Amino acid sequence: MDAIKHRKTQKVLANSPWTPSLTEVEREELVQELLTLAAAAPYHYESAAKYRTDLTSELPFRCYVADAVRCRAAVDFASTEEVQAGKIGQMLNAAEVLLVVTWLPDTFGEPVESREPIPFTGNLRNMEHLAATGAAIQNMLVGATAFGYPNYWSSGGVLRFDPMRTHFNIPTEEIILGTLFIFPKDAESRADEVVPGKLRDKGKALDTWSKKV
Ligand SMILES: Cc1cc2nc3c(=O)[nH]c(=O)nc-3n(C[C@H](O)[C@H](O)[C@H](O)COP(=O)(O)O)c2cc1C
Repeated sequence: MDAIKHRKTQKVLANSPWTPSLTEVEREELVQELLTLAAAAPYHYESAAKYRTDLTSELPFRCYVADAVRCRAAVDFASTEEVQAGKIGQMLNAAEVLLVVTWLPDTFGEPVESREPIPFTGNLRNMEHLAATGAAIQNMLVGATAFGYPNYWSSGGVLRFDPMRTHFNIPTEEIILGTLFIFPKDAESRADEVVPGKLRDKGKALDTWSKKV
């Protein structure tokens, strides 16, 4: 419960690349823990068969994992490609792990478009695929919080689009729901800046969004 209450957005900004704080073994252990938490989320419908090629799971989401070295390389790539990565670049300088989480829209026979299929077909199945993916993401954020790693759920900014999207090999027919930044435990003391979530304290009074019926 405490981890749920204490989870909060922390955009950790670093103006230059940080040396990773975890060993490869430690990072792999963390990633496996977080992925296991994501897989524990409820889900209602299996992914469409067409998505089960490279990654074969029935889960309606996928997770693409980039370690610290890969994140720093992406900053270099963005610079070479003249991508204005802004805060995303600063967070890639600091991140211990980046988890790009996509969900897999059912298109019911419609051809898969050559780019992220937004707007997707509005129906119950897609709503529930999306909801399951959100639950999986939240599990990972709460888990990261419980393990002591500052974290942030971003829409992805420049990571959603080429050339960054292709750089990270994110399939175009999947929809990115979140790019999750997991920062080192001591990030707050090292960061050039830590930016909190804008809406952190907004709308929280229980009687403003719930009532007896
Ligand atoms: C689906 C989703 C996408 C988000 N994308 C962004 C984003 O792109 N940029 C951003 O500043 N915050 C983003 N956030 C984080 C929210 O700003 C943050 O959760 C909110 O301000 C409340 O703060 P808290 O997380 O500390 O409770 C996103 C949150 C969700 C659920």
